[in-house]
Amino acid sequence: MDTRILHAEQAYDIEIAGGILRAGGLVAIPTETVYGLAGNALDPAVSARIYRVKGRPSDNPLIVHISAMEELLPLVESVPEAAKKLAAAFWPGPLTIIMKKSNLVPKETTGGLETVAVRMPSHPAARAIIRAAGVPLAAPSANLSGLPSPSAFEHVCDDLMGRVEAIVDGGDCAVGVESTVITVVGAVPRVLRPGGVSVEQLRAVLGEVEVDPAVLEKPAENARVASPGMKYKHYAPKAEITIVDASLEVYARFVNAHPESVALCFHGEEDLLRVRAVPFGRAEDALSQAHDLFAALHTLDAIGAKTVYARMPRKNGVGLAVYNRLIRAAAFRVLVPEDVWVVGLTGQTGAGKSTVSARLAARGCAVIDCDQVTRDPALYSGDCLKALQKAFGRDIMKPDGTLDRRLLANRAFADADSTQTLNRITHPVILDRLRAAIAECAAAGARVIVLDAPTLFEAGAERLCRRIVSVLADRAVRRARILQRDGITPQEAERRMGAQQTDDFYAERSDYVLDNTVGVTDAEIDEMLAAFGCVKQGDGF
Ligand code: TXA
Ligand code: MG
Repeated sequence: MDTRILHAEQAYDIEIAGGILRAGGLVAIPTETVYGLAGNALDPAVSARIYRVKGRPSDNPLIVHISAMEELLPLVESVPEAAKKLAAAFWPGPLTIIMKKSNLVPKETTGGLETVAVRMPSHPAARAIIRAAGVPLAAPSANLSGLPSPSAFEHVCDDLMGRVEAIVDGGDCAVGVESTVITVVGAVPRVLRPGGVSVEQLRAVLGEVEVDPAVLEKPAENARVASPGMKYKHYAPKAEITIVDASLEVYARFVNAHPESVALCFHGEEDLLRVRAVPFGRAEDALSQAHDLFAALHTLDAIGAKTVYARMPRKNGVGLAVYNRLIRAAAFRVLVPEDVWVVGLTGQTGAGKSTVSARLAARGCAVIDCDQVTRDPALYSGDCLKALQKAFGRDIMKPDGTLDRRLLANRAFADADSTQTLNRITHPVILDRLRAAIAECAAAGARVIVLDAPTLFEAGAERLCRRIVSVLADRAVRRARILQRDGITPQEAERRMGAQQTDDFYAERSDYVLDNTVGVTDAEIDEMLAAFGCVKQGDGF
């Protein structure tokens, strides 16, 4: 079959795509998540052909795409209250809502189920094509079954050229992973597949939201899975991928010891690696990881990668969607090179990091106080001391040969450039000392080692951590705490707080956020440690 290439920005091409779809043909279309293999959702023969073209098992239902709210009503028995709230908050956008279907939707489209999955994409061309077709469009991801979903036009061509009537070129997809799928059919809304709308965002709108166990874990053989798509082999490139659950430094050591492997790492980490690196997104930005992931999987195939070691995405926010896809691409293989848990603990001044740190110590964790490490004058010696004197003046050494920390601080914190100079000189020695402290704790048998560091990120110490926890609190509470604790003026308190990073800065860079506005209970601490997997709930260690 000849496949026509159409262009998303051309109105005439949109009409052609609409005509093909109206006539019962198949067109691959761009959406904001991934490309979809679209056909008339109300025609059983068309749905049957979609399954054939994709090579997809016919019990795995298709998503029905609409362009406006009034197109929803004919497809469903009724619109539950929760669906109304979700549609108002997230449509058009990367969210698919499962509801009870009406008789209009053929069972061929829903894989034999009595429910239908509906989504209103935000991509303007996708909506224009649905409008031009005049019918709702069934559109699974436009890849052959089992292969990574296509987030770029070229990937669609690789899989579908010659198998469909047309492919619409819309460039790269903004989100890059498929939509979040949520069912509102049961008593409590339940996420069946994480995606561009995060579980946290859904909870903010609906309150209670469950996450199906199949999102994180391999469904047991023959288990009944709520979302049939979850049970199939998915997103698999030809390479054998293994996720490495470790700090960046431990990851780099492990990968460098396997010179024949390829590193699926984050941008900016390549410098530490002596093997070929395929980066996807930035460590602190799950959206960028989602955007790059499938293209990176395609690249692995293109370069003929055989053994791939991947960095571990965070399981919160959109990171959960990235983890969900990657763990499937890795056939659930996770490797732990070092069985210690280095947990970075950070947060804003006055948020109460020290109380959390004391709690963790009481729970049996080894705690390294990074402030104490950096305050130790013995740390700054030799070349480091020479460099400090060169940058900040010989007189920063007191006559007794020790460092005049106050004078150094005055000069180094006078302006941003000086601060940067100080950091460039001192951070490497601080990191070395922290590495040594971690090794000491590990040698003494500690399983969970907490790096209590107000400037964890600024010092680059997050590269030593397998997990990161931020302690945050409301601004007014933090202000009151530092006023009382440090005996400073309200102006000074404001100045210090103004120099702090925002809540979002910490949240994006953390695996876990503890809100210490009213306090953190031991139960919350245990829950966190259990969520990391470093200790079972109620387990004294
Ligand atoms: O972002 C997306 O959702 C993309 C674009 C093209 O819109 N589409 C997509 O479709 O990813 P597909 O077919 O590859 O994945 C649909 C997922 C499958 O895991 C399927 O099992 C689930 O949604 N699903 C669809 N209808 C369902 C239903 N009635 N009940 C439970 N799960 C359903
Ligand atoms: Mg798919």
